[in-house]
This record gives sequence, C-alpha cells and structure tokens, in this order.
Amino acid sequence: MSRLVVVSNRVPNPRATQPQAGGLSVALADALSRRGGLWFGWDGQLSQTSVSRPRIEHHQGIDYATLPLCKADYDDFYLGYANAVIWPVFHFNLGAMDYERRYSQAYARVNALFADALMPLLEPDDTVWVHDYHLMPLARELRDRGLRTRIGFFLHIPFPDYDVLRAMPGHRQLLEDLCRFDLLGFQTENDRHAFEESATRAIGALVRAPGALRHRHRNLRTGVYPVGVDVDGLAELASRSLAAPRVRRLLDGLGERDLMIGVDRLDYSKGLEQRFRAFEALLHDYAHRRGHTVLMQIASPSRSSISEYADLRQRLEGLSGHINGTYGDLDWAPIHYLNKAFARGSIMGLYRAARVGVVTPLRDGMNLVAKEFVASQDPDNPGVLVLSDLAGAAAELSDAICVNPYDTDAIAAGLNTALAMPLPERRRRHARMLEVLRSNAIDAWGQRFIHDLSPQSA
Ligand code: G6P
Repeated sequence: MSRLVVVSNRVPNPRATQPQAGGLSVALADALSRRGGLWFGWDGQLSQTSVSRPRIEHHQGIDYATLPLCKADYDDFYLGYANAVIWPVFHFNLGAMDYERRYSQAYARVNALFADALMPLLEPDDTVWVHDYHLMPLARELRDRGLRTRIGFFLHIPFPDYDVLRAMPGHRQLLEDLCRFDLLGFQTENDRHAFEESATRAIGALVRAPGALRHRHRNLRTGVYPVGVDVDGLAELASRSLAAPRVRRLLDGLGERDLMIGVDRLDYSKGLEQRFRAFEALLHDYAHRRGHTVLMQIASPSRSSISEYADLRQRLEGLSGHINGTYGDLDWAPIHYLNKAFARGSIMGLYRAARVGVVTPLRDGMNLVAKEFVASQDPDNPGVLVLSDLAGAAAELSDAICVNPYDTDAIAAGLNTALAMPLPERRRRHARMLEVLRSNAIDAWGQRFIHDLSPQSA
C-alpha cells in the first residue's frame, strides 16, 4: 500500500486542547487516523518572514508537516484570494467578493511555496491527495518541479455555475490548474457537472465520456464523493456525552422546554441571519411555542478580520438581542447564542439532547453538522433535522424537513412541523437517514477516492 500524503491549507494542531472548527479538519482527521500517512499544510500560525521548511511531528500514526504563513501571505492569500474571492464566488455570493490583484499574486506565491516545501518530503510511489480551494494550483506547481506520481484533488465546497464563476478574476487559470490533477472529486453531482461545464466552456476541455475529460493532451477524471461521517463512533460519543456535566447542566436549565440546535462557523454562507429571523417568525406566528422552545446557536468565530464576517457578527448580536428582548421572559431567553467552539463530545451530547437540528446554509458543499446530528440521535426517540435544500447533504438526506434557506416563513413552518412530529414518523425518517449515512460512511469516502486515484483504476 503506497503512503497517503494529504495536503490541505488548514492542518489542525494534533496536540491542541482547544476545539477547532470546520468540516475539512474533522473529515481528514477521521480518514487519516484509519490509514496513517503524512498531513502537510499551514499550522494556523503567523511568522515574521516566509518559512519554507516544515516542522515535522509524529502523533498517533500520522506525520504532521506544517508551516506558518507570513503576515503578507496570511492577508493576501488566506484572507484575500482564498476567502474574499474564491470562497464567496464558489458559494454563489458575488456581492461578497473583494478582489485585488495582489491577492492572486499571493495565491500563486503560496502555492509555489507549499510545493517547494512539500517536494523534499515526497517518495516516488506516494499517493498525493490535495484538499480544497486554497490549493487548486498545487498539482501544476508539483509537476513543474518534476513530480510524476498521481495527484488527486477534492473540493469540499460547492463548484459554482459557469456564469457565476466567470465573474471571478483568475478563473481560467484555476480551471487550467485543476486539469493538471489526475482525479477531481466533488461533493455532489451538481458540483461535478458545473466544473465540467466551466472547463468545457472556458478552456475548451473535452468531455470524452461521463467523468472522463481531456485537456492539453492529458486525460483526467472527475467523480462524486460525498463526505461521510463515522456513524457508530459518533452515536457512541453522543450517548456517552449526554451524561457530561456541561450537557447535564444545560438540560437541567431547559426543564421541559424543547431544544433546537444550530452549530456553525460564523460565516455568511451559513444563513444565520435568516435562521434567526425564522426563529422570530416561529415565535410570532406559532404563539404556543413561546416559552416552550429554546434555540441554541453555537457560532464559532472564523476569518474575523474580513469585514463581511465582522459585520455579520454585529448583525447577529443585534438580532439575538432583539429577539430575546421582544419575546423573552423573566425565566426564559428564547435564543442562547454562543460565539465559541466547543469540544466535539459536548456538541454530540447537545445534538442528542435536541429535539430539532437546524442546518440552513444558503449554500454549502456538504455540511457535516447535518450528518453528525442524524448520527448522534437516539434511534428510539430521535430528533428531527431541518435542512437547507442548498446544502450538499440534502442530496442524500431527503428524509429531513427540507427548506429554502432564504424563505424565513418556510423555515419557521419547518421548525414547527419538526417540533410537532409524532414519534413513529420521527423514527421512520431517522432510520432511513441513518441507512444512507451507513452506506457512505467516512472510511468509504477516503477508500473510494484513493482507489479511484490509484494507477490500476486509471
Ligand atoms: C470550510 C473549508 C475548509 C476550512 C474550514 C475552516 O470547511 O472547506 O477548507 O478549513 O472551512 O475554515 P478556516 O478558514 O478556519 O480554515
């Protein structure tokens, strides 16, 4: 078995005591812990000057090779091209795009830096698996340095329609760069199709057969690999964590009230404002819910020096204050809004205790919270998932209550239906969703991608 080398911009500190947010870290940590290998990328730290020699650390079967970013790269690559250009455009939000030419220069520079730092660590028969939008040029950079091994890429976020993508400066180069990988993986068929259409229209790639492209005398393949979760591990963790003191305290405080829970990074793609407004509509239009329902929203701060994120934080603080001020009572605050990340165990315990999981992003590649919520439920008395039609997870979890995340009245109605759902229907829906999750758990995700990337299946 060849060694697996995973490359991602964000590499969690294996010894961190603080929880770290983001679906990518969770999925990759799960996938790598099963097989071992090397995980290369940014350690989340800033340095005075650019560093090209990674720090190597071995932890629980995984070698971590990480670099800090210098301030200019952090500003222009991470906050700039990756998160103020690609992120909003790929989430269909052109209004949030903030482009500067120096951002694309930094994007190219950091990808070259990553390639320089990674090359000396690679062995001839490694399988190299690159993750997410920060690193789309990496295969080209590695090939230019002589790497001949197979290189795969997985996009954790959506791929936009061509008419949205073409507003993004630099999109042609990115499409060219993506065509230098051997296998491109997407979360949903929609994303794969959108990529193929863009590659065909913008750079003249040729679709030879479903999933098989040819560009500049090279063949590459595309595939759909929805990220899954560790179903049994999460179920076990959730049931164990229900007894944790932190979760017990919350439940004691709730008394007979129904808990609805949302857990997200504080990001404008997550639909948090619409969610708060929907909750307000629930309290306004379904008066019998007043005093009997609590929405706990955990929104861990993220990319907070980008103005879109800082502004959103302010608006959410205003909205939650407004809702609590208008509807709350001496013994009841309708929204419990927390701006910090919690340990995974506590979150799983909270999911299990909740009657409703609220996952209403305006656009999302997959959304693992939706899957984790389902996996964490007690099959005999499960809670109900209210899920955005525009999350990748909706393609698999059609037994959730699916809502349009922009339609606050429809979300409110969905929340009310979820709260009122009789036990037999909750069980039926949950059992069907659990079956879907089992058929595509986290190990299957990694194994399928790596299998398809191997030379034998080329
Ligand atoms: C999303 C992205 C990941 C990213 C994570 C956390 O899940 O797809 O690539 O790592 O958000 O965001 P951050 O900017 O903190 O790495």
